[in-house]
Amino acid sequence: MVIRYALIALLTSGMLGVSFGEEIKDPAEEVKKQKKLLLEVMGVLPGDLIAEEGKEYFHKKGPNGKSCASCHGKDGKGEKMPLVGAYATMPKYYKDIDKVADLDLRIKSCMEKYLGYDPKKISGKAGRKIIVPLATYVASLSNGMKFNVKLDHPKEKEMFEKGKELWYARVGKMDFSCAMCHDKYGGYRIRLQTLAKPKESKVMRYWPAYRYSKDKMWTMEDRIRGCYKQIKVTKPPFYHWAHVALQMYMAVNSNGGVVEVPGFVR
Ligand code: HEC
Ligand code: HEC
Repeated sequence: MVIRYALIALLTSGMLGVSFGEEIKDPAEEVKKQKKLLLEVMGVLPGDLIAEEGKEYFHKKGPNGKSCASCHGKDGKGEKMPLVGAYATMPKYYKDIDKVADLDLRIKSCMEKYLGYDPKKISGKAGRKIIVPLATYVASLSNGMKFNVKLDHPKEKEMFEKGKELWYARVGKMDFSCAMCHDKYGGYRIRLQTLAKPKESKVMRYWPAYRYSKDKMWTMEDRIRGCYKQIKVTKPPFYHWAHVALQMYMAVNSNGGVVEVPGFVR
């Protein structure tokens, strides 16, 4: 019961972007309405523009004169290392970096290792400006395909177990876990939003997603950081293994879901 009161206190305190005095609307309807409105006004969805920007970066030369397309082919559709369908199998263990990587970390690794970017220069905000559009573009190359993440390599199994542990771990002063909000109270409607059920909605299939409430494209790393911030727990830095682990857990639960990127969420 204590937990339940804590959650309700949090929800009604406005911490989660909820405020009194607003007309109660159906959150799913609200998302549809916003999407239609943006399409009418702009003629195109912001997320699609960001994917297009990612495609431009994909063909742009890095410090060493190579571009992503040099290895992965024009539009990521090369004969040798095509990226079509790649996102639907990530996170994954990669031998060249000896790491299990999510989309963000894989792209950052390729930028450093193969395009000659200085790791220091792209580890922060400047890097996000390129990596987020690139992630959106690369993920969109798997559109229409089914999520199919396997746990073949021991490091992949280990990452999945760590992710599961993190999902259920109670953390911070508020003593929350991902599971408490998203399994236990998932589906609860609170004003303009419904607490998502990431496992049931096969959440990885529609991320990276455009968040209209913030007018920003977010990868799943941004989303995870956002949730830790809500419960006042130190956010894991970008590209930290905790992001990879939680995504491994959510990705396995997303298996069978059809990729539809960029997503459009509140
Ligand atoms: C010099 C060659 C090279 C360049 C340039 C390069 N990569 Fe890669 N990339 C690789 C290699 C090697 C792998 C690992 C392949 C494997 O083990 O399956 C890889 C893997 C990937 C994967 C995962 C593919 C999969 O099937 O799981 C993605 C996504 C990716 N790269 C994106 C990019 C992006 C975006 C860029 C530009 C910023 C880029 N790469 C530039 C060589 C390159
Ligand atoms: C206090 C409750 C709470 C906790 C704890 C929490 N989240 Fe969330 N999460 C939210 C809310 C609220 C949203 C939706 C935000 C919005 O609509 O603006 C959300 C959104 C998400 C989404 C996107 C869902 C979708 O359908 O687009 C994912 C994925 C997610 N959270 C993962 C996590 C993970 C992983 C953890 C644990 C590290 C976590 N959350 C912890 C409240 C929580």
